[in-house]
Amino acid sequence: MTDIKDAVVLVTGANGGLGREFVHQALARGAAKVYASARTPRPAQDWGDERIVPLALDVTDPESVAKAAAEAADVTVVINNAGASTGASLLADLDAARTLFDTNFWGQLQVANAFAPVLAANGGGALLNVLSVLSWLGIADAYSATKAAFWSATNTQRLALAEQGTQVVGLHLGYTDTPMTAGIEAEKNDPADVVAAAYDGLVAGAAEVLADETSRQVKAGLAAPVEVLYAPFAG
Ligand SMILES: NC(=O)c1ccc[n+]([C@@H]2O[C@H](COP(=O)([O-])OP(=O)(O)OC[C@H]3O[C@@H](n4cnc5c(N)ncnc54)[C@H](OP(=O)(O)O)[C@@H]3O)[C@@H](O)[C@H]2O)c1
Repeated sequence: MTDIKDAVVLVTGANGGLGREFVHQALARGAAKVYASARTPRPAQDWGDERIVPLALDVTDPESVAKAAAEAADVTVVINNAGASTGASLLADLDAARTLFDTNFWGQLQVANAFAPVLAANGGGALLNVLSVLSWLGIADAYSATKAAFWSATNTQRLALAEQGTQVVGLHLGYTDTPMTAGIEAEKNDPADVVAAAYDGLVAGAAEVLADETSRQVKAGLAAPVEVLYAPFAG
């Protein structure tokens, strides 16, 4: 169980749709400080709250991640949120698929590994990994594969980091109204609802947060034969 009140929170991908919401809702819940990290951080005056500290962090660059972990040595909650969706195909273009893994798998893993000792030094704290309902559905090609791989890594991290008292939370969500889904015509979650569910779960001590009905239904449906699970998507 990890409280957001008085916590020092770091958000990756803080300029994105969910990232901004993670920053603002951490402050609303009484966080002492929020590192708003991004490849190109917004200046502090643009955020308009003195508890926000802009921080440069490119999840694919080991030096950038190590520097951020050294600078943000007081972090108690890591929101491992930065991610990309490029339409890369596992069948057509492995270079593009590898590049997507560099961000969504290796990048998020690098952030977790760099900040795990920081969390340990600050009493354990929490690591929240932003995954997807597509961790369990291979309908989005390489993107699904990156999220499936990082779901597995999240479960490994949860076991490994329990010893140092770090709570590891996997967040699963379906389509949510952010720049990432701007070109998709579908019903979408409000990012505010997703982030509220994520923080509620984290504070309640959850290991996994299913932020919407789609995620709950797909997770529950995993026990069904695979033909049944994929029937709605078969051509
Ligand atoms: N929206 C959805 O429907 C949905 C559903 C399931 C899961 N998710 C996941 O939710 C997370 C947040 O996505 P979002 O919906 O908020 O999309 P978004 O608005 O596109 O935000 C993604 C953020 O990630 C950042 N990012 C990408 N590559 C990075 C890198 N190498 N280093 C640091 N930051 C990087 C982007 O930074 P720049 O501003 O520099 O490009 C952007 O701010 C992602 O992990 C995504 O996969 C989203």
